[in-house]
Amino acid sequence: MTEAPNPVTMNQDPTAGLEGVVAAVTRLSNVDGQNGILILKGEKIEDLAGKIPFEDAVGHLWQDLNLTGVSSISTGFADARMAAFDVVPLLERAPAALSVYELMQLGLTALPGHAELPEAIAICGSLPVFLAAAHRISKNLHPIAPDPSLDTATDLLRMLTGSTPSSEEADALDRYLVTILDHGLNASTFTARVIGSTRAGLKQSVLGAMGALSGPLHGGAPGPVLDMIDAIGAPDNAASWITGALARKERLMGFGHRIYRTRDPRADVLKAGLHLLGASNPKVQLAEKIEAAALAALRQAKPDRPLDTNVEFYTAVLLDAVGIDRTLFTPLFATGRAAGWCAHVLEQQTTGKLIRPSSQYVGPMPE
Ligand code: COA
Repeated sequence: MTEAPNPVTMNQDPTAGLEGVVAAVTRLSNVDGQNGILILKGEKIEDLAGKIPFEDAVGHLWQDLNLTGVSSISTGFADARMAAFDVVPLLERAPAALSVYELMQLGLTALPGHAELPEAIAICGSLPVFLAAAHRISKNLHPIAPDPSLDTATDLLRMLTGSTPSSEEADALDRYLVTILDHGLNASTFTARVIGSTRAGLKQSVLGAMGALSGPLHGGAPGPVLDMIDAIGAPDNAASWITGALARKERLMGFGHRIYRTRDPRADVLKAGLHLLGASNPKVQLAEKIEAAALAALRQAKPDRPLDTNVEFYTAVLLDAVGIDRTLFTPLFATGRAAGWCAHVLEQQTTGKLIRPSSQYVGPMPE
């Protein structure tokens, strides 16, 4: 065995992370990080979230994809919730060690094919049921059956808590679900496309995407944002706490983004959603004070690096304000993003092409 002649070592690999590599052509979403614009099928995110319900936004994203067979997405999702509830007894019998997220994956795995529901509808409609049931099972509470007369956001909150939410709470959650529908070729979406390109089914693609999403580098910040807000505790502590954190070279959770070099457009949509719930809420006031203090401190500490509020900051505050436990943030993200994953899989499959990149071998060579 001799050493390979190539001088590239693993940790100097210029292709690690595939940054800047175009790996798919899509009509679904575009992230313009320089200008802070997110487009979903020709519409800016701020013209969808808070303007049309989640179900219509899914319909907008899915137009042109082969999803015939339901009269409307709302009816399809309602039927899918009812069908998914038949699987819930299996979740109740599952080992207690399984997390809410793993129970959702179990429910999805066990979801039977349905003659009248397209698979994407069945999958996306089932996740709110599995999320709510898994959460209640983890708290030793009985799962609550879906109500097909309600929209997804209202029914999800009702199935979680056992009581019908206010229309403001449901609207705030609905707005959140629209903001997370799709966001370019992030790690979980890429995973879904890779799996879909093998002609594996939608269910396997979504399960794989959920695996990718479970890692802390992807979608993991809202919980830590709340931890930071809790640690700051009161508006008057914000500036000194933040200055101290930056002096210790800590990162402020909910600020900065790999792609956005300006404000994440979803942050404003969610902030407006929060105001639906009442700007006088002390937690909202605390969050706004922290945001202002953080932006001022980041500008001073990193004058050459544009670091602005990202989606996770107001996601955390909004979901907390509607009563969603912080342990459910990633499961909830998967529930909304599943519609984007399904769209990407179907779009990838229209190319008929297997995703199979190359690697550069830098290991030892045989004698
Ligand atoms: N707080 C303080 N400093 C930050 C920061 C933050 N939130 N985000 C970036 N920086 C600083 C880094 O410390 C680094 O400083 P240095 O050059 O002196 O070492 C510089 O900005 C560049 O950081 P880098 O990690 O290269 O930037 P990135 O664009 O790759 O980072 C994130 C993107 C999201 C990983 C980063 O902004 C971050 O860690 N944010 C906090 C976690 C978070 O909110 N994640 C959710 C993202 S949606």
